[in-house]
Formats: sequence, structure tokens, C-alpha cells
Amino acid sequence: MTDKYKILFVCLGNICRSPAAEGIMRSLVEREGLNDRFEIDSAGTYAGHRGELPDVRMRDAAARRGLKLTHRSRPLCEEDFMRFDRIVVMDDMNYENAHRMAPSRELADKIHRMTEFCRDHPGRSHVPDPYYEGREGFERVLDLLEDGCAGLIETLKAEGRI
Ligand code: 4NP
Repeated sequence: MTDKYKILFVCLGNICRSPAAEGIMRSLVEREGLNDRFEIDSAGTYAGHRGELPDVRMRDAAARRGLKLTHRSRPLCEEDFMRFDRIVVMDDMNYENAHRMAPSRELADKIHRMTEFCRDHPGRSHVPDPYYEGREGFERVLDLLEDGCAGLIETLKAEGRI
């Protein structure tokens, strides 16, 4: 049996965008019957929310789309660059912080932007931080993440990785 393909989603606090991406990806993968082909996790570049469940506003927005988010926030660490095959970040700050933490240039090549995989939202450079936004901000983030996760699966299929 081949190894699982391991994906880590990364944002700042690991309580809004990346745990939502993790939940969406799990749901899409399950729907396609690919559960045993993937390992999916998320982390934040800021450790201040360590151990917390996702922000209640994100949990509510996700629940309205049938997703239950149960991840506990954890900080990104150097070991993640060895363990995961692809590290998918949400914005420029995550991208730069993840690069700074990468143990080597080769391992930094695993870092990709979520918007790279969006098909229905072309030309976007980042998934905006919803933390100081209202309900609409969380809905917009989920729309982008659903698009990006679907595109990521298509990309991995096209690359023959799953
Ligand atoms: P996230 O959102 O990076 O999508 O989890 C944020 C969560 C917390 C903070 C900022 C953004 N914060 O400043 O504590």
C-alpha cells in the first residue's frame, strides 16, 4: 500500500481559516471515498490560541454548511516540514513566516498558497483573515476554502499523487 498524502493547512491563529480548511478537506475527501489516502491537519504561526477549539463564529458558520470543526489549535513547528508533503498557507504573512521556519530551501518548496488552487475565484492572492470581520467575512472565507480544497484535490489527481 502506498503512503498517505499528508497535507497541513496553516494560518495565523489556527482557530479560523486553517481548521476550517482542514474540515472542508476532510469532508471532500470522505465524499470521494479517499479517506485512507490522506492525512490532514492544521497549525498556526502564532501560538497564542494553543489548545483552543476553532473560534465559535467559524464553528457556527461551518456548522451551517454541515461541518463540525473539532481541531485544537497548535503552533507550526519545524518537524511539520519533514512530516507533511504539502503545506498550504492562507496569506502573505503565513507564507513568509512559514518560509522563515522551514529547515531548508528544499523543504520550503512544500509551501503553497491556498488561492493557487482556487478555480472559481481567480486572481486572488490570499484568504483574508476574518477575525475582525462580521458573519459575511466568515462566509467569504468558507467559499474560498471550498473552492481551494476542491482545486487542491484536482491538482493532486492531475499530478498523480493520489
Ligand atoms: P486565523 O484567524 O489566522 O484564521 O486563525 C485569526 C485568529 C486569531 C488572531 C488573528 C487571526 N489573533 O489575532 O488572535
